[in-house]
Amino acid sequence: MEQYVMKGGTPLIGSVNISGAKNAALAIVAAAVMSDEDVYITNLPDVNDIHVMLEAIKEIGAKVVRPDRHSAIINGSTIDNLVVDYEFIKKIRASYYLLGSLLGKYKQAEVALPGGCDIGARPMDLHTKGFKALGATVDEGYGLISAKADRLVGTHIYLDKVSVGATINIMMAAVMAEGRTSIENAAKEPHVVDVANFLNSMGAEIKGAGTDLIRINGVDHLHGTEYSVIPDQIEAGTFMYAAAATHGEITVMNVIPKHLEATTAKLLEAGCRIAEGDDLVTVSAKDIELQPTQVTTLPYPGFPTDMQPQMTVVLGLANGVSTVTESIFENRFKYVAELNRMGAKVKVESNIAIITGVDHYTGARVDAPDLRAGAALVIAGLAADGLTTVDDIKYIQRGYEDFTEKLRGVGASIEKVDDERALKKFVFQVS
Ligand code: UD1
Repeated sequence: MEQYVMKGGTPLIGSVNISGAKNAALAIVAAAVMSDEDVYITNLPDVNDIHVMLEAIKEIGAKVVRPDRHSAIINGSTIDNLVVDYEFIKKIRASYYLLGSLLGKYKQAEVALPGGCDIGARPMDLHTKGFKALGATVDEGYGLISAKADRLVGTHIYLDKVSVGATINIMMAAVMAEGRTSIENAAKEPHVVDVANFLNSMGAEIKGAGTDLIRINGVDHLHGTEYSVIPDQIEAGTFMYAAAATHGEITVMNVIPKHLEATTAKLLEAGCRIAEGDDLVTVSAKDIELQPTQVTTLPYPGFPTDMQPQMTVVLGLANGVSTVTESIFENRFKYVAELNRMGAKVKVESNIAIITGVDHYTGARVDAPDLRAGAALVIAGLAADGLTTVDDIKYIQRGYEDFTEKLRGVGASIEKVDDERALKKFVFQVS
């Protein structure tokens, strides 16, 4: 079994290049099949979720060429199957984006009901509400969702809840619908904007992405394009919080600082120093005492739920009592028991974590319960005294490119090991 093993207690210092945004790239790869011409995507993160999505589109007949590990040329003209197998869906929830893209292009699609990180009930009612409003018949049963339409016709869709997935999926289904569609109470996340920009570069007519009202003029066909994915704000945030927790200083490079505003605001409240450049942000927590604060996760531009576990790890080392309120997903505190085994004092009451800061964490063997919580436990391990091993790293590998290499680049003592012998070798080397 693969594990991360690390020796903590060293401030992380240096700079790290941030990869393309996983969540934007997943939707962009799914949307790319909507053209019958070559679509050249660059700045793709080399992570497992993207590999699975590329396999999924190959499986339905799309051509995929990989000029290098960060780019793909996708051609959807050869698609001959509109059924996306459970094999892919159980690995990545985001393969539901193929429902929107295939329905939009072929007026028909069938996708198994999604799996993904278990962070609470993750219904798809808003996605299907949108597809139905556009004129599709949607059936759910036997673990499948199928959507079918003779014609898709533009309409006004109000989303009862802000949902990234539903906004993107409906946007994809609507770009080739007849007439005008508006999506009200749309998600404003940077990756929603990125997917809209990508579709527009293929000839779609989408306006207002990044606001809560997206307007789409249907077009007949989408042409080829060349497009670079935006940087990953959550990967950047994870390294920034690693600097804070270890009292180090890290510069995240190749980022869009505007996308990191909520993340940096909370670091400032915690007492860290921040310096921003055009495409970089430096976080310094050298020689400071971390201060407690209050955080509530909210849709963008609020504090991202995908940074919630990392925030708890930082505040667990602050001088006082903090609260972290999770308002998006109800089951996102599963890591707390593991963190407490490392000496943290966190109590969860309903959707609020009450965190009493401790002076330091102590190394332990812990389990990564999901992607972001797994990364947060690695940060805790790097801040902790002694050795930590993190199990179940398959979750972390879904979303962080070269995680150990990048962490070693800022001075971390961390290794990926796959057997007892390699683990013992690491322990011997660091002791
Ligand atoms: C995406 C991200 C995920 C992030 C989340 C919130 C991807 C691949 N994943 O997930 O990393 O944590 O946004 O920023 O981009 N909801 C419904 N009905 C629906 C859809 C959603 O009630 O049909 C609810 C969800 O249960 C949740 C809230 O809406 O409470 C937000 O979920 P949503 O924004 O859809 O998250 P995802 O797109 O699944």
